[in-house]
Amino acid sequence: MAQNTLIVSNWKMNLNLISAKKLISKLKALKISKNIKNIVCPQYLLIPHVKDLIKSSQILLGAQDCHFEEKGPYTGDSSIVLIKEFGCKYVIVGHSERRAFHKEENLHIRNKIDIAIKNSVIPIVCVGESYLLRQKGSYLKFIFKQLDECIPKKMGQLIVAYEPIWSIGTGLVPSVDDIIEVKESCKGFLKKNKKIEDIKFLYGGSVNSKNFFEIREKCKVDGALIGGASLLEKEISNILKGDF
Ligand code: 13P
Repeated sequence: MAQNTLIVSNWKMNLNLISAKKLISKLKALKISKNIKNIVCPQYLLIPHVKDLIKSSQILLGAQDCHFEEKGPYTGDSSIVLIKEFGCKYVIVGHSERRAFHKEENLHIRNKIDIAIKNSVIPIVCVGESYLLRQKGSYLKFIFKQLDECIPKKMGQLIVAYEPIWSIGTGLVPSVDDIIEVKESCKGFLKKNKKIEDIKFLYGGSVNSKNFFEIREKCKVDGALIGGASLLEKEISNILKGDF
């Protein structure tokens, strides 16, 4: 039986209520394979609306982040408890934009993963190197450190999203060989050091309807984490309508 493919739309801080409603109604009208998990991650204020809009559809809801505590004096943050209450089955953690603009360290991300698992929300853990580290050839060492410090030992199923920072929003995509190298290396590292075998590996960074199918087919990734193209009805529809 075909494996599930995860198509995760990370809307980031985009779309208003009207444009979100429009996009969701288009996505709902698509006929997509049962093997695809279509996961949409809107910004927090849109989540309750999207929760209502996706009722009786195949679309699943995710959040773009959560705090590492369930409650407390954390102005501006959102709790995993509320995220779950509003129907999110997934939460993205450790995105490079959170690491860069909110100074998130691996330890924060580790705690976010723990709190997500405790609340039965599935974390999608982002890792990925800068252009400088790629040039220097030390990208695997960097990614291994991220995995080592972020991932608890002996998790059940784990979803890792490899998003090289230099690829996000730039139109630059690593070669097939580069993605395969990172995928195999991450799986090997996690198996050896964390005893985790059940790993879903996503690729993210300038994914669109033109490059996705080659990445999926040749790299045998389990899906994609998509930013810009997930906001464009035609782009995301063409990806979701693919024959997996
Ligand atoms: P783009 O698809 O816009 O490059 O963004 C990738 C990303 O950061 C998804 O989380």
